[in-house]
Amino acid sequence: MPEEPADVWAMADLALPFAVRVVATLRVADVVRDGPLPLDEIARRCGARPDPLGRVLRFLVHRDMFAEPEVDVFGPNATSDALRSDVPEGPQPWLDLDGAVGRADLAFVELIEQVRGHHPAYTTAFGRSFWEDLAHSPELADSFDSLMETKTHGLAPAVAAAHDWSRYRTIADVGGGKGVLLAEILRTAEEPRGVLAELEGPARHAPEYLRDQGVGKRTEVHTANFFEPLPFRADAVVLCDVLGDWDDADAVRILTRCAEATTADGVVLVVELLPDTGRMSEFTEIDLRMLVYVEGRMRDLERTERIAERAGLTVVDLTPLDSGYSIMECRPQR
Ligand SMILES: C[S@@+](CC[C@H](N)C(=O)[O-])C[C@H]1O[C@@H](n2cnc3c(N)ncnc32)[C@H](O)[C@@H]1O
Repeated sequence: MPEEPADVWAMADLALPFAVRVVATLRVADVVRDGPLPLDEIARRCGARPDPLGRVLRFLVHRDMFAEPEVDVFGPNATSDALRSDVPEGPQPWLDLDGAVGRADLAFVELIEQVRGHHPAYTTAFGRSFWEDLAHSPELADSFDSLMETKTHGLAPAVAAAHDWSRYRTIADVGGGKGVLLAEILRTAEEPRGVLAELEGPARHAPEYLRDQGVGKRTEVHTANFFEPLPFRADAVVLCDVLGDWDDADAVRILTRCAEATTADGVVLVVELLPDTGRMSEFTEIDLRMLVYVEGRMRDLERTERIAERAGLTVVDLTPLDSGYSIMECRPQR
């Protein structure tokens, strides 16, 4: 029997994702959370024009998001409630077109340029790279840091529980955001001291966060660029969700800097999503996002072993986590 083809029109649709992202950006679901309101009032509260907003909302009503109990009166339903900004770990901040990731998604329009080998998609769309954009815009940088914080809150307890961190005296998290993972690790293992190395923005927010988490006195924070020599030595140097942001040549440079920062018997611990037969749709989607946002790439174990080798490291142990992430323990070839 021939396989039923998927609905290609539905696969290629742009109207629905853009309509959802427009209402996510305007936070319409928050505005109507307590019940239906006239369109003019919704538009006023969202800073939008009534006519185009009404057409977006009516289109969404016919896709089961929002209700229109009377003409030009729109109210919530279960799907619009899922788009409220107060849903814990909900989709709204990821879809907000003014946020770092919602904006980066707009670069998919230029994917064809990248595939034809002309220009990177993000730079074509916005005139500078993703990282340059964050460096120029505190709002985008704050949005990105807060999205990463949400993502890492989900991952950190499993990483902290899956490895014996008590065997180290010093644990450094390189590119560790404001320190969500490091704080979780230091709460699990009470002896080691922590080092956080980050760019200026996240590094600025880290001391207060680490203090609030009760590990401030055991942690030092360095403003550091992981393409340059790192200003500390540690027994364990952690890189969580960092290598996927970079192509192989840059990933080798980062790993080399991390290897140099280890103490005599130290290790580099790479925490990354690995491909897994049950999760290939998620893995390939993140790989494509890395290509479009930052010209990065997701890697399987073999490719990670190859770049580690080029940085003078050998992957000696692998701890898979339920989430599809793994902790890859790498030892410098001294
Ligand atoms: C995808 S985020 C992961 C953050 C954190 N490890 C986590 O899992 O939540 C990548 C991090 O790399 C940092 N980063 C990017 N370029 C960097 C550089 N040149 N030196 C140091 N950190 C950098 C970013 O600021 C960002 O926090």
